[in-house]
Amino acid sequence: MPDIESLLKEKRIFKPNSDFARQANWNKKTVREYRALGAKNPQRFWAKMARENVSWFTPFKKVLDWKPPFAKWFIGGKLNVSYNCLDRHLEGENAWRRNKAAIIWEGEPGDTRTLTFGDLHREVCKFANVLKARGVKKGDRVALYMPMIPELAIAVLACTRIGAPHSVVFGGFSAEALRDRIDDAGAKLVVTADGGYRRGSPHALKPAVDEALEGTDIVGSVVVVERTGQATKMKAGRDFWWHDLMDEASAVCAPAKLDAEHPLFILYTSGTTGKPKGILHTTGGYLTHVTTTSKAIFDLKDEDTYWCTADIGWITGHSYVIYGPLACGATTLMYEGVPTYPAPDRLWDIIERHRVTIFYTAPTAIRTFIRLGDEHPKKHDMSSLRLLGTVGEPINPEAWMWYHRVIGGKRCPIVDTWWQTETGGILITPLPAAVDTVPGSATLPFPGIDAEVYTEEGDPTTPPAGGYLVIRKPWPGMLRGIWGDSARFKETYWSQYDNTYFAGDGAHRDKRGYFWIMGRIDDVMNISGHRIGTMEVESALVSHADVAEAAVVGRPDEITGTAIVAFVTPKSGVEAGGDLNAALRMHVTKQIGAIAKPAEIRFTDALPKTRSGKIMRRLLRDIAGGKEAMGDTSTLEDYSVLARLRESDE
Ligand code: PRX
Repeated sequence: MPDIESLLKEKRIFKPNSDFARQANWNKKTVREYRALGAKNPQRFWAKMARENVSWFTPFKKVLDWKPPFAKWFIGGKLNVSYNCLDRHLEGENAWRRNKAAIIWEGEPGDTRTLTFGDLHREVCKFANVLKARGVKKGDRVALYMPMIPELAIAVLACTRIGAPHSVVFGGFSAEALRDRIDDAGAKLVVTADGGYRRGSPHALKPAVDEALEGTDIVGSVVVVERTGQATKMKAGRDFWWHDLMDEASAVCAPAKLDAEHPLFILYTSGTTGKPKGILHTTGGYLTHVTTTSKAIFDLKDEDTYWCTADIGWITGHSYVIYGPLACGATTLMYEGVPTYPAPDRLWDIIERHRVTIFYTAPTAIRTFIRLGDEHPKKHDMSSLRLLGTVGEPINPEAWMWYHRVIGGKRCPIVDTWWQTETGGILITPLPAAVDTVPGSATLPFPGIDAEVYTEEGDPTTPPAGGYLVIRKPWPGMLRGIWGDSARFKETYWSQYDNTYFAGDGAHRDKRGYFWIMGRIDDVMNISGHRIGTMEVESALVSHADVAEAAVVGRPDEITGTAIVAFVTPKSGVEAGGDLNAALRMHVTKQIGAIAKPAEIRFTDALPKTRSGKIMRRLLRDIAGGKEAMGDTSTLEDYSVLARLRESDE
């Protein structure tokens, strides 16, 4: 892994700012204490967090039951996530939050809605009753395919209220991708909208649901939110308007008292094979993890207006738009549209108008804004900001510095947070009052998290050194499995090293012990902070009638981090060229969604393979990245293939 050996030589260090440190939820002393406890007895640390940050109907009796790779946390405990996010802010000493904004929402056309904790509670109870009336019971799965509108948050919380695990499918995925996810989870009901706004115009969502449901009968009902008002076909007896059902629903719905290990949600993510994995998270551990990290890392206070720009269709949206912030009683902002519409300053304008205090986004967005120019943020008063965060991919030190200077006005700490869909919540991160930051490094593991860098053989390394990022002890927010596939769960995460979680990322640790995440080391690409499996795109390509074979690799891209390059061998007699190129890009969009559309397609009459028939991706990566294919080619089956691929480059 030559990349991992290349030590980033970053000398700039930023100490926590003393004004910030003075008021922080977790100050230096707290962090020192929790680090010590977390190292000595992680179970005791997490039990303390679970008691302090989460409300339980029945206290847990045992902290952890660990039969690798299967963990159960907070055994015997009973709780409800929607109760923690809503009801407890309406009772006792917190009752004043009833009229505090829970969600401040802004639509792309500029319309806004504010839901107080009281409002949100009422809507969630009503929708929970709608779900029940449509026959959804505890344990039944509900699929959500929606734009970023408040109804998505309401639907998610309503599912948790009755113990129906949700599966949110990102609204940018295609009908085919939606169908796969509905089938795999066995969803009984789908919530969608007529459409949503993107780049100034409404785009339809409901037709994709109709297409996805053709030929399946597992879904009994579809609930449709009217967002855009566009003409929408409704199937009698199956499809219902959200507002019609809500009109009749009662606003009284007691939260189900759920077991700590009751399934909370499934969220699909890419792996190295073509089939997405349904990552399963459960109730008590997940909530403990996201609530504790929100409070400690984002320093959430009642006065904050917190904004995480992620779509709820991704894990970041689950954990840090909805669950973590709302469980902390914080105000969370949701924005529906694209960040550059109607002008490149949309985000900064939102920050100024809503006086956002904490802002959490992805490096790819930061790089886009750097390119658009400093004049856009400079037009706005962003003095309300007090903390910044990043997530999803490594941030290059220069982008970090720009974020610090231009957005943070040199006064805001930056938390570069490393985690994954599988980890549920943040695992490696600065704590803003206590950890010196270095641009480009996610710094240190959160208290209670035992992260290490291993050699290929499974030996811990001594910093400075690079290798494979692993987590050696279970943590409360960890995935509990892959929906319906425990063999794949064991194979993917637990087969590399004994009883140790293998994250699939390479990492380097510097002399200070700080972690530098180097990115995926498997066949998963990180496009704009979203994981796409090379195999997924390959299977989409070869499902096209004109394609014989395809290999997909990533090449570095200034804005998106990685761009998808596809090497395609057409079937004999098919003419390779512009038409096929356009057709294939469209085909991938239809199969998976625009996010997986190759940036570049190269046609070739053969792919480089080893004698055993394995495609030599390393060579393709070099060619796609414009590097001379220097690696070992001794096992290459047909040398001329390489030469021809290189020629196609010219
Ligand atoms: O490669 C790492 C990268 O994103 C992957 C996880 O992707 P996903 O499950 O979609 O979740 C993204 C949001 C949590 C990781 O395996 N990644 C995530 N955060 C960082 C990162 N790489 C470097 N630095 C980060 N802060």
